[in-house]
Amino acid sequence: MEGAVLAAVGQGDVESLSFANAQGFDHQALIGVLKSLLADGYVQMEAVDHEGWKLTEEGEACVSKGSPEAQVFALVKQEGSDKDEIEKLAGALAKVGLSQCMQSKWLRVDKAQGGKIFKETDKIEDLVQKQLSDVKNGVFPPKADLDKLKKRKLITAANYKTYNIKKGPDYAPVRTKAAADITAEMIADGSWKTQKFKPYNFDALGQDACAGRLHPLLKVRAQFREIFLEMGFEEMPTNRFVETSFWNFDALFQPQAHPARDMQDTFFIKDPSTTLRIPQEYMEKVKSTHEKGDCVTGGPQDPLATPIGSLGYRNTWNIVEAEKNLLRTHTTAISAQMLYKLAQMDKFEPKKFFSIDRVFRNETLDATHLAEFHQIEGLVVDRNLALGDLMGMIQAFFEKLGLKDIRFKPTYNPYTEPSMEIFHWHEGLNKYVEVGNSGMFRPEMLRPMGFPEDVTCIAWGLSLERPTMILYKIDNIRDLFGHKVDLHMIKTNPICRLVK
Ligand code: PHE
Repeated sequence: MEGAVLAAVGQGDVESLSFANAQGFDHQALIGVLKSLLADGYVQMEAVDHEGWKLTEEGEACVSKGSPEAQVFALVKQEGSDKDEIEKLAGALAKVGLSQCMQSKWLRVDKAQGGKIFKETDKIEDLVQKQLSDVKNGVFPPKADLDKLKKRKLITAANYKTYNIKKGPDYAPVRTKAAADITAEMIADGSWKTQKFKPYNFDALGQDACAGRLHPLLKVRAQFREIFLEMGFEEMPTNRFVETSFWNFDALFQPQAHPARDMQDTFFIKDPSTTLRIPQEYMEKVKSTHEKGDCVTGGPQDPLATPIGSLGYRNTWNIVEAEKNLLRTHTTAISAQMLYKLAQMDKFEPKKFFSIDRVFRNETLDATHLAEFHQIEGLVVDRNLALGDLMGMIQAFFEKLGLKDIRFKPTYNPYTEPSMEIFHWHEGLNKYVEVGNSGMFRPEMLRPMGFPEDVTCIAWGLSLERPTMILYKIDNIRDLFGHKVDLHMIKTNPICRLVK
């Protein structure tokens, strides 16, 4: 087809439809070929719009079987027929057929004879059938008739285009395909000098790099880690998920009757269900602090122990509760162990610790809660730190992340006093959302470890998920983490965020 077109255009201008008919080509297929030739400059084309019509299914039926009125007319007997009889024979066509016949005065109803139907004429001409078969052949009747056929839903509009074709700027009688790439052979045999090349497509997006992508959580985690390292924090070893109730709760002065220790809130481990190792001497101090408040002695750093001045929970502390294994509910369980270790050293040394790792809570899942999430935890232990140090530290910390609008709200934690929740404005949810929790560790937690009286510890914990949701404008935590995450999200989220 391509060769025939190029040859014809070489002779003079060509009109697509008549050319297709003369050559026996499908017009649509010809247009395809022309468009491809146009793209390479072989031809120029000018579109011409035409009004066209085509038959509906009913129209097609009229062409093959006659119009409904002609069919109905044929059913009426010379001596007249009952309406019922015609309706029975003509079926669905009866209604239109009869009414058209009456309009054309082909039939009449004789009221005097009980509504019997008689022919008014012997012969009819089925003009509708003729016009429809003309339409089928591309010959259209006058507008008034077309409108009638359209109204009867026998034809519908089918506009079409034809093209006037001329030689293009790069016309040649034979098409040579432009090459996309230069090859070693072309260079070797010199054919590159005459070879036509396709122009560069600077709008092409390029191939998708088939590489792994970092999940937004990992990117934000790397950012947090960097912030901590910049601020001089050391990373705590958090590489185990199973903890004992002792480090997760008791060491933190969380009462044994606390609701968080319930199965509804915490995942306990069945096998092994208990631990064997709790430092004996320290455990005795934790026990007495829980029961009486006054832990008797300090550690190596606090030889002249003074009473804490606390009343404790005034309850019996039971080792059976402390020995229970669980999936840690917060990384503060690790902080407690790090602090305990620090207190065992001969001389006190100030420290800044952080960790970012997974924690587990038996939560009802919703838009902002999952049963497992990542906790970021920071703590500074030094002499005479105060609440202002904590607020300043948190402010500086969040600001480094680009989150400036921080609010504090007093709250309660068993292991901190005072305690503050941290809030940040969320654009997507249009409200302040809690991004973290913080406080100063209680003396009931620090003193049994063996720290001197003037050593205080400021600490805060937050989820990695919340700030990630704020930074990536994600409204539902289940779109970020867990089995419902769309893998496409990981591919399409920006490689880096540009912060204004
Ligand atoms: N452990 C707390 C939590 O799970 C966070 C926290 C850490 C609070 C340190 C105060 C101090 O929310």
